Amino acid sequence: MPSQPTKARAYIDTNRVISPISPLLFSGFLEHMGRAIYEGIYDPASPHADERGLRKDVLAALKEVNYRAMRYPGGNFLSGYRWLDGVGPRDQRPRRRDLAWQSIETNQFGTNEFMEFCKAVNTEPMLAVNMGTGTIQEAANLVEYCNAPVGTQYADLRASHGYREPHNVKYWCVGNEMDGPWQIGHLEAAEYGLKAREAAKMMRWHDPAVQLILCGSSNSAMPTYPEWDRVALEICWDQVNYHSMHYYAGNRDNDTTSYLALSAEFENFVDTLDGVLRYVKAKRRSKHDVYLSWDEWNVWYKDTSGSGGWTEAPHLSEEVYNLEDALVVAQWMNVFLRKADVLKIACVAQAVNVISPLHTTRDALLKHTTYYPIMLFSKLAGGVALDVAVQSPSHDTARFGVMPLLDVSASYDEANSTGAIFIVNRSQTESLPLELHWQDRAPQRISAMYQLAGNDPKAFNSLENPNNIVSVSVQPPAVKDKAVELLLPPLSFTVLETRL
Ligand code: AHR
Repeated sequence: MPSQPTKARAYIDTNRVISPISPLLFSGFLEHMGRAIYEGIYDPASPHADERGLRKDVLAALKEVNYRAMRYPGGNFLSGYRWLDGVGPRDQRPRRRDLAWQSIETNQFGTNEFMEFCKAVNTEPMLAVNMGTGTIQEAANLVEYCNAPVGTQYADLRASHGYREPHNVKYWCVGNEMDGPWQIGHLEAAEYGLKAREAAKMMRWHDPAVQLILCGSSNSAMPTYPEWDRVALEICWDQVNYHSMHYYAGNRDNDTTSYLALSAEFENFVDTLDGVLRYVKAKRRSKHDVYLSWDEWNVWYKDTSGSGGWTEAPHLSEEVYNLEDALVVAQWMNVFLRKADVLKIACVAQAVNVISPLHTTRDALLKHTTYYPIMLFSKLAGGVALDVAVQSPSHDTARFGVMPLLDVSASYDEANSTGAIFIVNRSQTESLPLELHWQDRAPQRISAMYQLAGNDPKAFNSLENPNNIVSVSVQPPAVKDKAVELLLPPLSFTVLETRL
């Protein structure tokens, strides 16, 4: 048995480029579910509401995260949604029973309100069309409504609703989780593939600039995974640009050691689907590329409530995040950078209240632990992802075998002469000494260093104690001989911002 190193070493070389980082890896998701829309972003009764009913404090927090795109309106909700319900004069919009979440949908917030919201937070809209109860004609009509110049029925309808200029929505999801038996209008892979292909053709005929996202497996535990993905992709390959992945993680067995090693599973999921993409591309002798869109990802296992009891804006799935969840989120985002060659979109599910880093009451806003890694990655990861060589002490995990204690990713932005290194120490008990070496150009200095850490993996933030687990600015080490030395606390996430 070789002896364990006692210290970790990581080697950074700006020539070892994985790929440019797609800014859309830092995107969000908003569904008509629970209190995400109503009482989340839209709450005319809140003292924080602006003249449109949008919550100013929520908008400010979302702007700070800087989500590059926002997926909307679902989710499972999508598969029963009639988009015409949500446009036009508010007093004429129908109240409906939402079968996905057994809630009452008032339709007071719809497509145009969402566009206003996107403008307010400077994010790109990513709309989804209903492939459950919806027809391919309705999907095409929505593209016409959003993107066509005035002069035909649905574009004129948009103009009559106060929006003469097209919204020019570029990103479109063709359905949601159609592999899941829980989905309204669930289809087998080939049935979905054929419907999605025909919808995609019509959507693209309306607007050839649209970028389409095909439904992939709802998670890697689905019995149809990854065959569903192969079948749907083989049918739709030429018509789509992205293939979606969804995954919700959890520490269901309270095995924190395995939970903190989940990056192994995340990487495996991407690698398998990357293999499927390569297989289908080769089989079809295609020159066209399809990339992955992880358009629902998050920790979700403590509050899985999904029935609203036929009420408006019920409290559903309002997960409270703790320190270990934040460390899982941080290493998940490390995986985004390490897989930046094939993964181009990732949407945190969701943006407010429902399985979200943000929680609102009528007059207050709370940032959960997971807010901090999401915000730091979004703010600092840019340019290209680097392939970091890591040597690390390891430990045994029940679920993934031997895993390194250190989980690292790095980015380098040549245009701005900046870099960032994102480091998780998975150990629950040990501080980990780390030597970080730059193999080509070393930064003159570490311009800033941020850390999120604690002794208790279950520690969380609350309205009474909102700053229990937050990222703090710490004194960065000096760069000496193209290297720095760090002592990473147990259960920690550390970010170094460098300037070359
Ligand atoms: O984000 C919550 C739900 O999780 C979504 O509606 C669905 O797509 C997934 O199963």
